[in-house]
Amino acid sequence: MSNGKRIGILTAGGDCPGLNAVIRGVVKSANTHGYEVVGFLKGYEGLVDPVSYIPLTHKNTTGILGQGGTILGSTNKGRFAATIGVNDRLELDPELVAGVKTTVEQLGLEGLICVGGDGSLAVSQQFHEHGIPVVGVPKTIDNDLSSTAFTFGFFSAVFCATDALDRLHTTAASHERIMVLEVMGRHAGWIALYAGVAGGGDVILLPEIPWTFEGVCQAIINREQRGKKFTLIIVAEGAALPDKGLVTQDKAETQKQVRLGGIGNYVGKEIESRLGKETRTVVLGHLQRGGAPTTFDRVLATQFGAHAVRLIIERKFGHMVTYQPPDMLSVPIIDAIKLATVCTSCSAVQAARALGVSFGDDYKELPFKYQPQSGEAAANGNGAGHSDSRGSKPAPGEAIGQASCLP
Ligand code: F6P
Repeated sequence: MSNGKRIGILTAGGDCPGLNAVIRGVVKSANTHGYEVVGFLKGYEGLVDPVSYIPLTHKNTTGILGQGGTILGSTNKGRFAATIGVNDRLELDPELVAGVKTTVEQLGLEGLICVGGDGSLAVSQQFHEHGIPVVGVPKTIDNDLSSTAFTFGFFSAVFCATDALDRLHTTAASHERIMVLEVMGRHAGWIALYAGVAGGGDVILLPEIPWTFEGVCQAIINREQRGKKFTLIIVAEGAALPDKGLVTQDKAETQKQVRLGGIGNYVGKEIESRLGKETRTVVLGHLQRGGAPTTFDRVLATQFGAHAVRLIIERKFGHMVTYQPPDMLSVPIIDAIKLATVCTSCSAVQAARALGVSFGDDYKELPFKYQPQSGEAAANGNGAGHSDSRGSKPAPGEAIGQASCLP
């Protein structure tokens, strides 16, 4: 069946729904074109020292289309880290790169498909620069890669967050409470924006739109004045606090990306203390990354898999498949790994505003008597700390690159 032609695939970085659909798409389409496929285990780690891989066949990939996670396993960073923080380049260890080259040659791979987000694809970019024949597939729930309208995994995460909002809606209404939902997305607000729109959020707080507590409180009071006694607030984990910056799970260290998280609790407590209204917070966390892919993500991931094989056949190495509706195209990986954040004039933001959704930035005058308390506590997630302040120089490893906006 294979005529000795072989390609490799690996799944790297944080997992997301749809990885198995890509693997299946690659195997089926590769087999159709006369290639056999090997799958490296635990992301880039399986490429070298020790090399660990499994043959991928129809038999061991059947039935995985709708399965969450990845049958190949994945590693976030590990020995292969090509970035510090968001954009700063870190050179891969030359010995590791040489080892990868040897593996590719010894296994006779015509191409290696790397399924990953910005950090993982930055590794692929360096492989490409060293002559290793790679192609990329854009994966991440954050949807923050440039040059593709959507990454797979994004809509599955949005589905999860929307379901959470639907559930919070009914309990918020019953108890006339404020409900705050914190979602993932790192420095991009796509999940918060799309879930906020899909789940009827009343206030959406994004990293891309500076907001204030006065703006949020005003939105709540405006609703109360219209007889709506509850409010749903969705906050992106990367939405910096006014004056206090990002809320993080750990302290920012050089050479390392900080773990975001904890802003939801901070927002909830602050609203409760300012308005005296009962407020509850839910942090959705990794629920957004688990479980089955949505129909859209299955279709997208399957197409990405088939088109990645096509790129190898066409020897378009150093490229990543990209969805630019209605077309499935490709771009150099180097162009794709720039951070793509929500642009404030995008259609979803405009539509939400037209519907009366607040982004916490529309505060005009104080509708209530509020005295800021002296020595307000600094924000932190698990008691760890916060990094940079809005407007000041970003913390090491957290510099945000050039923003772009496709959808
Ligand atoms: O990039 C995907 C993502 O889920 C982000 O939204 C989130 O900030 C991060 O990964 C969480 O990473 P980890 O699984 O390492 O906690």
